Amino acid sequence: MTYIRETIVTTVDTNGSVHIAPLGIIQQDDNWIIAPFRPSKTLENLAAIPYAVANYTDDMLVFAGCLTGRKEWPTVAVKNCPVPRLESALSHSVLKVVSVKDDGLRPQHLCKVVSEATHAPFTGLNRAKAAILELAILVSRLHMLPPEKIDAEIAFLTIAIEKTAGPDEQQAWSWLMQRVKDHRDAADAKGKDVVHHDHHG
Ligand SMILES: Cc1cc2nc3c(=O)[nH]c(=O)nc-3n(C[C@H](O)[C@H](O)[C@H](O)COP(=O)(O)O)c2cc1C
Repeated sequence: MTYIRETIVTTVDTNGSVHIAPLGIIQQDDNWIIAPFRPSKTLENLAAIPYAVANYTDDMLVFAGCLTGRKEWPTVAVKNCPVPRLESALSHSVLKVVSVKDDGLRPQHLCKVVSEATHAPFTGLNRAKAAILELAILVSRLHMLPPEKIDAEIAFLTIAIEKTAGPDEQQAWSWLMQRVKDHRDAADAKGKDVVHHDHHG
């Protein structure tokens, strides 16, 4: 088993435009591996500018937003680093790519930690935030999962939302659930289409 931190990774292109994406960074001794599936803007950016900031945040609006087309979040410049950090990061690590192992599908970027800083206190765990993280991962894999698995996971995660969410968590949850609904509606429409064709064919 390898330890993974669920982070918001910021990278930049050669023009300095920032890209924000939720990515799990994988621990390897004192280093961290960033492994984006192809195709990915993060991958392109790392090839051009081999630095990333791993932002440690419990702002679930950023995780849910990035997966639902809301990719613009405030960033702040980091001293001696070409890549800015997320404003809402409680802390961050500046990562420098030292080597790339490319398997064609999910190139592994081994990164060393250049610097780290803390910006705000960690204020404790929350079940709704954890449930949103799980739903975010589920939403990023909707196309690979059977409908029964999606429904069963959501039924379980909903308990934590109903018991422990604040307004931001309710908002993040509803952005992601809209994405689940769109996926279900598209699957239903496709199902009806098949029935229709069968009937006439
Ligand atoms: C918590 C979390 C962890 C994720 N980890 C990864 C990862 O390690 N690799 C990856 O390719 N996508 C991961 N994803 C999905 C990416 O966020 C998503 O595909 C994103 O759009 C990356 O593509 P981009 O660099 O073009 O934005 C993760 C999503 C979530 C919510």
